Amino acid sequence: MNTLDPARFQLGVVDRSRPFLPESLTPLAHTPSYATLPPAVRLRYNQLFASSYHEQFIFLESMLAGPILPALTQRFAAEPLADRLRRFQAEERLHSHWFHLLHQASEPALYRDNTHFFVTAPPFAQRLFDYCARRPEKFPFVLWLAMIIEERTLPASREIIRAAATLEPHYVALHRLHAADEAGHVSCDAELIRRLWPALSPAGRLLNRWLFVTLLREFFQVPKRAGWAVVKQLAREHPEITPLLPRLRREIHALAHRSDYLGTIYSRAREPRTFALADRFRELSRLEQELIPAAVGAIV
Ligand SMILES: [Fe+2]
Ligand SMILES: [Fe+2]
Repeated sequence: MNTLDPARFQLGVVDRSRPFLPESLTPLAHTPSYATLPPAVRLRYNQLFASSYHEQFIFLESMLAGPILPALTQRFAAEPLADRLRRFQAEERLHSHWFHLLHQASEPALYRDNTHFFVTAPPFAQRLFDYCARRPEKFPFVLWLAMIIEERTLPASREIIRAAATLEPHYVALHRLHAADEAGHVSCDAELIRRLWPALSPAGRLLNRWLFVTLLREFFQVPKRAGWAVVKQLAREHPEITPLLPRLRREIHALAHRSDYLGTIYSRAREPRTFALADRFRELSRLEQELIPAAVGAIV
């Protein structure tokens, strides 16, 4: 079977009576107020959050298929790795296409030509991402970002498949297709990091470590801008929750300090390959403690 065949993902009518993701993958479900929301509001939150979750994938996939992988394909042009990188690039383009199709079918009012409705990086951060993504040899932190986010899709898709009987079937089907490619991407990321990271100067490693941890925490860990944009959209559709917004905002912000929640996103148990690779480099050996700060207090 041609795994780059776009027709492998076929869209029918999206069943909007079902959740799109397991609740465990949605941040609001980890707050005390979630259980007090009416079932219809919880369902709609789940569906809207699924789109913002996929928008993060599209953001990363666009960086990979756009500047990062073409630059590295050139860098390794004389090696067999270049063919794997070309394939990686084509798969990411296909994933973004599929996610966008699913969004257009599920949320036609939110997605037309725009691939992003919830996820927006501030202009400074966007320029920083673009600058670094065009120079992945100097800024291989972009590959650490890719690796940990791509590896995260593997346990997440296992949760989705376990809950398949209760979820919207197109969402399950797409996550199944996506995860099948992502395992290979994690291997490519690891190989690229093993090649590029040791070539950095000590100062370059520290700068890249700082950029990796800072940008991961700011944009891809606890829900901030996009996570709140989902709740605001929910309140537009269900104005009855408007009086609850200040409390929901406090509870979502509090997730940043809850090690039990943070451990459901990035942890040695969930992304073992990324953390094992980080262990090989002294400057990244405390990665888990940096991503789950409360765990430091718990250990001490
Ligand atoms: Fe992907
Ligand atoms: Fe990927």
